[in-house]
Amino acid sequence: MLDLRQPLHTSRLIVRAFRAGDAGDLHAYLSDPQTYIFEPGAPITSEEAAAMAADLATSPHFWAVEVAATGRQIGQIYLKQVEPLEHLTCELGYILNPAYQRQGYAAEAATAVVAHAFAERGIHRIYAHCNPENVASWKLLERIGFRREGLLRQNVFFRRDAAGAPLWTDTLVYARLAEE
Ligand SMILES: CC(C)(COP(=O)(O)OP(=O)(O)OC[C@H]1O[C@@H](n2cnc3c(N)ncnc32)[C@H](O)[C@@H]1OP(=O)(O)O)[C@@H](O)C(=O)NCCC(=O)NCCS
Repeated sequence: MLDLRQPLHTSRLIVRAFRAGDAGDLHAYLSDPQTYIFEPGAPITSEEAAAMAADLATSPHFWAVEVAATGRQIGQIYLKQVEPLEHLTCELGYILNPAYQRQGYAAEAATAVVAHAFAERGIHRIYAHCNPENVASWKLLERIGFRREGLLRQNVFFRRDAAGAPLWTDTLVYARLAEE
């Protein structure tokens, strides 16, 4: 499916659909083990990045974050409407290249995507899940106006220990409503 969404322009960024040409910039952060401390998955090769960029370019759920001044693609925002669709609810996620973190880029990009979802797509509620130890993630959510709604105890695991047992983790639930 071709995604014909319009790019979102912020003061420093262009938040837009992915392109196959993002493969190199995508590889720069998805090959970095630091990206996966609180995320499922493992570092990818440049061949895998090329396939993934082509794949993301056809996805309506992923937004590429580009620095307007340089054209570098430095991260991604995920926003997907969940079932049942009549609940008008989306899940939010994000990854920023470690070299570009702590400069307000994730907050700037996520704010634009969230505002677009509420204003242009009629979304009612957006939620995000993160590990309580992922301070960068929940600080980002608080920065962009999400409220902490609760803590799910050991509801998920992304990895197993050497004996194959799940490494269960807790999940913080954050959300923001259109009216907020
Ligand atoms: C979460 C992530 C996207 C934040 O990106 P970022 O561009 O560094 O975030 P911002 O610069 O916009 O900062 C947003 C807020 O988080 C805070 N923050 C960012 N990184 C932080 C860190 N490592 N420790 C503490 N606070 C941090 C900032 O100070 C800011 O809060 P403030 O406005 O109160 O000062 C980034 O750390 C990342 O990609 N992590 C790896 C992937 C990941 O874990 N994704 C989320 C899975 S749930």
